[in-house]
Amino acid sequence: MDNKSRPIGVFDSGLGGLTVVKKLLEHLPNENIIYFGDTARVPYGDRSRETIVRYADGDIRFLLGHGVKAVCIACNTADSMARTEMEKRFDVPIIGVVEPAARMAAGLSENRKIGVIGTKATVKSGAYARVIRALAPEAEVTSVPCPLLCPLVEEGRFLPGDEVVESVLRDYLAPIKAAGADTLILGCTHYPLLYDVIEKLLPGVRLISSGFASTETLVKTLDRLDLRNPSKKPGSISFYVSDAPERFAENGGMFIGREITGKVEKVTI
Ligand code: DGL
Repeated sequence: MDNKSRPIGVFDSGLGGLTVVKKLLEHLPNENIIYFGDTARVPYGDRSRETIVRYADGDIRFLLGHGVKAVCIACNTADSMARTEMEKRFDVPIIGVVEPAARMAAGLSENRKIGVIGTKATVKSGAYARVIRALAPEAEVTSVPCPLLCPLVEEGRFLPGDEVVESVLRDYLAPIKAAGADTLILGCTHYPLLYDVIEKLLPGVRLISSGFASTETLVKTLDRLDLRNPSKKPGSISFYVSDAPERFAENGGMFIGREITGKVEKVTI
C-alpha cells in the first residue's frame, strides 16, 4: 500500500472516540480508518498517569501494526495525560483533541471566562488550562471533573428531559455558571451526545465539542505532509475492540450517527 492510501488510526478507551470519527467521515470521506476502542480497560478517566501512558502506548502500537499513516487520539484523557510521552516514543504524526479545542475556545471567548468539563484525569492534568493560558494569559479557566457523565451517556441517558442526567449536570455546571463563562469546552469525546441538555442548562454559552476542532488539525497535518488519500472512493472503516464487540456494535451507532455495520473484531493487545 502506498503512503497516502494507508489508513488513519483513531483510538479511545471505548465508544466516545466515535464522535470524532463522525466528524472525520464528514471532512475526510475518502480516507480509510482503523478504530480501536479499548473496551476491556474503559474507563481511562479515573486512572493514574502511569497507567494511562501504558494503555496509550499499547493502543498506538496496535494501530501502527495496521500500517497507519497518522494517529488521532480521540480521547481527552489519553491526550492530556500521555501525548507528550507518545510523541517522544513514536515517529508518526499524532493529533490530539485538547489543543485544537483549547485554541478554538481561546479564540472565541469574548469575556475571557472559559469553562472546561472532562474526566477526573483530564481535569487533573491541567492540560486545557495550560494551552488556554499560553494563548490568552488573562483568561479565567474554571475546570470541573464530571466522573458520572460517561457512564450515563453509555447507558443512553443523555437527552433533554431525562431528570437524572439533568440533575447531575446541573450540579456539575453550577461552578461554570457562577464563574460567568461565555464558552464551555466539552472536554471528553462522550460529551457531544450531551450537547442539547447542556445547551438547555446553560443558555447563551458557546459549547465547543473537543474532537470536532481536531478534524481541522488532522486535515492540515495530512496536507502539510502530503499524505491525503487521492482516492475518489468512500474510505473504509475497520473497528477493533479489546472486549465485548457486540455491545460496541449495538451502542456505537449513537456516537457515530449511523448504524455500525460490518464486523467489530475483538483483539488482545
Ligand atoms: N472519552 C474519553 C475522553 O475523551 C473518556 C472516557 C473514559 O473515562 O475512559 O476523555
